[in-house]
Amino acid sequence: MAVLPIQCYPAPVLKKVAAQITVFDDELAALAADMVETMYAAPGLGLAAPQVNVSQRLIVLDCAGSDEPADLIVAVNPHIVERDGEVCEEEGCLSVPGYNAVVKRSAWVHVRYQTLDGSAAEREAEGLLAVCFQHEIDHLDGKLFVDRLSPLKRSIFRKKYKKILQEQQESA
Ligand code: NI
Repeated sequence: MAVLPIQCYPAPVLKKVAAQITVFDDELAALAADMVETMYAAPGLGLAAPQVNVSQRLIVLDCAGSDEPADLIVAVNPHIVERDGEVCEEEGCLSVPGYNAVVKRSAWVHVRYQTLDGSAAEREAEGLLAVCFQHEIDHLDGKLFVDRLSPLKRSIFRKKYKKILQEQQESA
């Protein structure tokens, strides 16, 4: 297992629609294991394959609180089949360092996906996990949480993010 480098906006891979996964082999399992390690090391609540420069439909997430047992989900080809309600929560992203914003999402989602051996799985989620599923599945469609902001907020983001990137380069 290895911690993989995380791609940051504006890396082109983050804008691409990721490919459906059709081969469930050791290579896929190894990628998932590396993504899990990368997510926990960051630390982050979720990670999508495009964030580690692999344009395939694979996400990992663990939204358990620090006082709860781990709740690791590895989801291949995930898609939302039903959604309900509305929540506005502050989100951040490992691919958009140094910037958080409130995003409007569905409050409840029903997600179908495949496990690493290709069998069908599903999960209903609310609260933080529901938000996280939507955020990570967006990554597979080439969308970042900043793409869901109003045009005004997005232009503020672009200005702020330019500065954040400059500061990072200067300190590197
Ligand atoms: Ni993200």
